Amino acid sequence: MRKPIIVGNWKMNKTPSEALEFMKGIEEVLTGEEAADYGVGAPYVDLDVCVKNAKNLIIAAENCNEKDSGAYTGEVSVPMLKEVGITYCIIGHSERRTYYNETNEHCALKAKRLLADNIIPILCIGETEAEYDAGKTADVIKTQLAGSLAGLEACEVAKMVIAYEPIWAIGTGKSATKEIAEDCCKLVRDTVKALYDEETGEAVRVQYGGSVKPDNIREYMACEDIDGALIGGASLKVDSFKEIIDATK
Ligand code: PGA
Repeated sequence: MRKPIIVGNWKMNKTPSEALEFMKGIEEVLTGEEAADYGVGAPYVDLDVCVKNAKNLIIAAENCNEKDSGAYTGEVSVPMLKEVGITYCIIGHSERRTYYNETNEHCALKAKRLLADNIIPILCIGETEAEYDAGKTADVIKTQLAGSLAGLEACEVAKMVIAYEPIWAIGTGKSATKEIAEDCCKLVRDTVKALYDEETGEAVRVQYGGSVKPDNIREYMACEDIDGALIGGASLKVDSFKEIIDATK
């Protein structure tokens, strides 16, 4: 049985004091008895305050570097995240792929390094609107998965979270229908089965992301192959994140 996992992605939002305010507001509604895991991905400078104030909320970094240390100005390594107490890390988000040239190869190295320190990667994949219109969605999903999971063992992949996020649905309000989301999340699972084995595909948790809101999360969560959501805009306000928790716990 896969435990659902719902993670907010704050992107480049919230100062540490704003992060603290959010943590206080959300922690008071979580008991730890929920049927799902809940978490937030936060900017590096917010991570310490988030971890220190988290009781039941998972705190994820939004990126990491695959190397342990060295002359990489502005980068943050996995040992640094580990020492702060981070347990999950988003990798390969479409914004990082588009603006910072993050590739499938980087994702594979980052995932390997994170898993070596028991930090769960949340690997993001998804097609552009042009690729969707050209009927290339399935090819993009398969290529991104094969590249981003390269070098990983089945037992490592089984622990991961994979977020299918069609780029045309991110921040646009144009969420994928539950049928498209389910088909693509099933394809993610089937691709993991083809690359590894049945057991690994059944174990990996697959999220849908892209304009998920309190009023549409239930329909995604009712789908067989959707184990959760990665949520940008609707994770920024305590009230809307609370509504999402209420709709899914
Ligand atoms: P959105 O962002 O929920 O604002 O569409 C999703 C994401 O980028 O992870």
